[in-house]
Amino acid sequence: MARLEGKVVLLSGGASGIGAATARLVVREGGKAVLADRDEAKGRALAAELGPAALFVPLDVIREETWQTAVAATVDAFGGLHGLLNAAGIGVRNTIEDCSLADYRRVNDINSLGSFLGCKSVLPAMKQSGGGSIVNISSVLGLRGASYAMAYCASKGAVRALTKNVAMHCAQMKYNIRCNSVHPGYIDTPMIAPRLDQNIGNLSGRQWLEELHPLGRLGQAEEVANMNLFLLSDESSFATGSEFVCDGGLTA
Ligand SMILES: NC(=O)c1ccc[n+]([C@@H]2O[C@H](COP(=O)([O-])OP(=O)(O)OC[C@H]3O[C@@H](n4cnc5c(N)ncnc54)[C@H](O)[C@@H]3O)[C@@H](O)[C@H]2O)c1
Repeated sequence: MARLEGKVVLLSGGASGIGAATARLVVREGGKAVLADRDEAKGRALAAELGPAALFVPLDVIREETWQTAVAATVDAFGGLHGLLNAAGIGVRNTIEDCSLADYRRVNDINSLGSFLGCKSVLPAMKQSGGGSIVNISSVLGLRGASYAMAYCASKGAVRALTKNVAMHCAQMKYNIRCNSVHPGYIDTPMIAPRLDQNIGNLSGRQWLEELHPLGRLGQAEEVANMNLFLLSDESSFATGSEFVCDGGLTA
């Protein structure tokens, strides 16, 4: 039996990296995947490759009306909504001393406010569908500090706390909707590509990042997608409000 048979999953950031890898697993496991992203070219290409079980919808996570359109298009195409992956995000390097107000707002808007709008926008359709599972991609930097990622750490810590609030509310209201956060270490996706060639001391950026992980390598998008698949499926039915770390031992 396929692990997501009959499930419809909306994926922000579904055009690239972790979101795209998760969309592939959703379709492989018998579900329907709605790729929602601001990168239309990549999103449409992946949806075409995945076939009739996939759909692309344009989404800018900081604009509430695009969330409403995306949810309506999902229900219209596939008859319900059972899963949300909030994977859209950006990474910017800054410290508490050099981060501008504009950069702080931009990072927190996309990573944190975008996840809030996602959770809020899907609830009516998920309730209508009998319940579901929300997976918010935070980061190891939502659990610990890093001097070079001030705005990003703040935004991902907010995603962790938002997740627990949504989980508590949905449990209290008996909506049969679970909400969990996933905390990846450094994953080899387009997000970190610019950092891999920037030397740090006598190490390449890639070597420096690899050495942060006790497993001695970067993670692959598919490895995080496997955790997302578990959380989106009924296999994780007793997990809500929890943090799922996938970091090659980095935080251990
Ligand atoms: N790659 C890593 O090392 C790493 C580590 C921890 C957490 N994360 C988180 O994982 C998530 C996915 O990142 P990724 O590594 O797959 O990066 P990625 O750059 O490959 O994918 C991010 C996607 O988000 C989309 N996006 C960005 N802003 C958007 C907006 N305003 N509206 C709609 N879509 C938007 C992009 O177009 C892109 O398709 C992010 O939240 C990121 O912070 C990544």
